[in-house]
Amino acid sequence: MHDVEHIEKQPTLRVTTMPNDANAAGDIFGGWLMSQIDIAGAIEAKVRAKGPIATISVKELIFHKPLFVYDLVSFYTDISKIGKTSIEVSIEVYARRMREGEFQTIKVAWAKYVYVAISKPGLKRPVPAE
Ligand SMILES: CC(C)(COP(=O)(O)OP(=O)(O)OC[C@H]1O[C@@H](n2cnc3c(N)ncnc32)[C@H](O)[C@@H]1OP(=O)(O)O)[C@@H](O)C(=O)NCCC(=O)NCCS
Repeated sequence: MHDVEHIEKQPTLRVTTMPNDANAAGDIFGGWLMSQIDIAGAIEAKVRAKGPIATISVKELIFHKPLFVYDLVSFYTDISKIGKTSIEVSIEVYARRMREGEFQTIKVAWAKYVYVAISKPGLKRPVPAE
């Protein structure tokens, strides 16, 4: 069901699923969704890190419901923890689709990804003060 908390909040990323993103069963490949979650979390982390970041960990990930081709997928991100060099981002994923003449909005996934601020590939740096 639609979560009212998010009505006022802008998604960090919105994307439509395409036929090429489907698996053999006809719904969306989980690896496609993992990479889109990574992109959304990285957008949030990069702003806070004021520069480049690298993904170090998929800390938690739940696929609540299947995604289907031509769903409009929205990613809502929040920083849940900041360490010396790391930034943990929680990401909620909602799908909007037309069913029986009406739009439905469904929570399809939830994740926590961890990013590390870097100055170049392989070299971490402290997360700067806000
Ligand atoms: C990112 C990178 C530079 C970090 O260097 P590192 O020496 O491994 O770093 P550390 O072990 O000191 O960990 C750095 C931070 O990440 C955190 N961290 C490490 N492993 C973690 C894990 N499994 N889960 C959550 N946080 C983790 C550490 O606690 C530390 O946080 P803090 O500084 O805020 O206390 C290095 O691991 C790297 O380049 N990895 C590859 C990144 C990449 O290519 N990502 C894309 C993969 S396709």
